[in-house]
Amino acid sequence: MDLNQLRDDLATKDREIFSALSAEEDRQRGGLELIPSENYCFPEVLPLLGSVFTNKYSEGYPGRRYYGGQPNTDTIETLARARACALFRAEHANVQPLSGSPMNQAVYLGLLDPGDTILAMDLSHGGHLTHGAPVSHMGRIFSFVRYKTVGDQGDIDYDALEKMALETRPKLIVCGHSSYPREVDYARFQVIANRVGALTMADVSHVGGLIAGGVLENPLDHGFDVMTTTTHKSLRGPRGGLILCKASHAKAIDASVFPGLQGGPHMNQVAATALTLKLAATDAFKAYARNVLVNARALAQSLRDHQVHLVTGGTENHLMVMDVVRSFGINGAQAQDVLDRIELTTNKQIIPDDPNPPMRPSGLRLGTPAPTARGMGEAEMAIIGRLIASALRAPDDNALAGLAEEVRALTARFPVPGL
Ligand SMILES: Cc1ncc(COP(=O)(O)O)c(C=O)c1O
Repeated sequence: MDLNQLRDDLATKDREIFSALSAEEDRQRGGLELIPSENYCFPEVLPLLGSVFTNKYSEGYPGRRYYGGQPNTDTIETLARARACALFRAEHANVQPLSGSPMNQAVYLGLLDPGDTILAMDLSHGGHLTHGAPVSHMGRIFSFVRYKTVGDQGDIDYDALEKMALETRPKLIVCGHSSYPREVDYARFQVIANRVGALTMADVSHVGGLIAGGVLENPLDHGFDVMTTTTHKSLRGPRGGLILCKASHAKAIDASVFPGLQGGPHMNQVAATALTLKLAATDAFKAYARNVLVNARALAQSLRDHQVHLVTGGTENHLMVMDVVRSFGINGAQAQDVLDRIELTTNKQIIPDDPNPPMRPSGLRLGTPAPTARGMGEAEMAIIGRLIASALRAPDDNALAGLAEEVRALTARFPVPGL
């Protein structure tokens, strides 16, 4: 397949899509992605996503499909499952979830009955929508009870969590987060769950790559029943979801993904996941995971040096949340807009018990998976911290134009993988 030829064809056949694609390439190349849930995937992933595996329907599982013509799809899905189990020390893996939300939904629907109680982290304290936010369908189907963090360091209040578990007797205790900069005490979660006879699930969507790289704890090593992770964040794969579980849950989980929740898996995505899991098992990826953490600490330090207030005071993983109301007297939406103008892409974020609404919250979330994938290190994190603080402190047109030039000069030195 000649990719340049295909690009030329696209330019003549569909100018509107071609120009949007070119503009997006320029945006990704010239700007810098700092949203902690985004990344630049491994370059090798892109051709597999655009491969002929997208043509194939493969409902079912290897060796038990509803359609013919499966020798090659069986090969890639079997490889993906085996690689996932080896990388995450899991007894069973399901690689078919189309993304993170259906992945979590499949676990709840497979292991629980409607109306069952789930204990999960409060959304404003860092949990995800699928962890029971009232606006999500999961919040209507199951009865969610929410635990919170306490104190300046943002620790999970494990004593309060245990008390809640004893009072509410959940069938499932969920940990994991979208916006929590601290490490989780998985062993303590498991002890609490054992006390009340609950199952445990860790949604490590954000930190899956850091667990694969061996730099953060693996919940499965602490006896968790289920671990879920998206494949497109710190893991650097295609958009998708991965469910890892004990062998005793394999049948229920597989039946819940298909035919319970989904139809045909996206086999181009499964092929790209299989490749991602191979690349994530290398020493180079372990070094990448280490650098993500080193860079996160360096960026947090740089922001603190510029008098920025960070929620929980710092970070133990790949992300941090700035309290922009307290630091700059503007809300998260305004801060995001200012940084967009100098091509630093971030996202507005609610903070624990935020008095402000989600579209104008008090926080801004940043992370280091993407800049680290471009090869940036601690020196660049110090520059980025200064650029962010300068832009948000004095967002006038002249100053922003100068800062935007600095961003372009910085990104020109670090190509986007695959572009
Ligand atoms: C912790 C967590 N779980 C699940 C998801 C859902 O993933 P997706 O957006 O692929 O549905 C996310 C996405 O940000 C997440 O952060």
